[in-house]
Amino acid sequence: MKTHIEISSDNLVHNLNLFKRLSNRKLMFVVKANAYGHGLKEILGITKDLPIIDYYAVDSVSEALQVKQVDNKKRILVLGWSDKEEMETLLINGFETIAPSPDFLKEADRLAGKLKVKANVHLKIETGTGRMGMAPAQAAGMFNVSPFPYSNVRVVGIYSHFANIEDTTDHSYAQQQLEIFNNLLAKINVPGLLRHFSCSASSLLFPETYFDIVRVGISGYGYWPSKQTYISYIEQDKNGKYLHKIELKPVLSWYAKVVQVKTLEVGDPIGYGLSYRTFNKTKIIVVPVGYYDGYDRKLSNISTIIVNGVKAPVRGRICMDMFMAEVTHVKNIRAGDRITLIGREGNEVVDADDLAELAGTINYEILARINPLIPRIVA
Ligand SMILES: Cc1ncc(COP(=O)(O)O)c(C=O)c1O
Repeated sequence: MKTHIEISSDNLVHNLNLFKRLSNRKLMFVVKANAYGHGLKEILGITKDLPIIDYYAVDSVSEALQVKQVDNKKRILVLGWSDKEEMETLLINGFETIAPSPDFLKEADRLAGKLKVKANVHLKIETGTGRMGMAPAQAAGMFNVSPFPYSNVRVVGIYSHFANIEDTTDHSYAQQQLEIFNNLLAKINVPGLLRHFSCSASSLLFPETYFDIVRVGISGYGYWPSKQTYISYIEQDKNGKYLHKIELKPVLSWYAKVVQVKTLEVGDPIGYGLSYRTFNKTKIIVVPVGYYDGYDRKLSNISTIIVNGVKAPVRGRICMDMFMAEVTHVKNIRAGDRITLIGREGNEVVDADDLAELAGTINYEILARINPLIPRIVA
């Protein structure tokens, strides 16, 4: 295997337990996008026997079907939009869907009636994210009509999503969104309705967002949603807010094997576009990973990997299937040796946050774009 991903089941279980302890609510684990790039099948293999997880959240019906194949006991909520055919599959399989508009409910009602099943839906409320969702007044109006106009629809949940909670230490906009949601909840009184709003950042910072279910994605995989979320946590912790220290443990490590070790002369170019030229006699390695694998081309000439416990700078452009790194300072490196692209070796760490900062993106994207074809091994 020239490259592989290693998944730490201990770290995953640690993170999920932490959210259960922190919130003491139902836990919805967000496993869309191939479990944030970690490998859906492998992640579910670990979580299927974890009773602390009540729900999985996915983006599509095809993802829901993959989840059901591995774990057919837990509830599955499809967060994304489904077309008519997908909706029928969703209903037949007993998945739950979001309902972002009255029109969507009407269609779900019609399809469920045709299939002689119930459509279990979570109303998606627009509180200021400016994407899918119905106005609070539309939702409130629906509950005030008797009988409920969609007889084949069972409204099992009501939820919203924060627009500006990760990238900032100013949480006033999130507070406004929460207020809109709370005002709506005060107007409707439906016993047993599952209310949810909280993602990783709010679950880490604001207990008042927990309601009945917390929906945890990125931090289940061991990452803070952003530096700002971490700073906010540290600030709150100073005021003695947290009973337990929050330690998130990254679940994913990414390894590769050295293809070739070679020495270049002074002034020799490395890679496409000759974007790097050696200053000295330089030892390099060729790494069999490229942007097709999800190692972002923006990392050309700026990221580092770990080779024999030592940081080694990437030299030249990231190619489609390989890149080069300088190892002049690294001893005893040979073709076939294992190196680390994301993970820890001794005292050195490279994580998705480091790569995200260099590539001008977020840790979510670095992880989610790791090619699903790379083997995932559960350790
Ligand atoms: C509706 C919804 N809830 C929860 C999440 C999980 O967010 P996070 O990964 O920040 O925990 C997402 C992720 O995009 C989402 O779209």
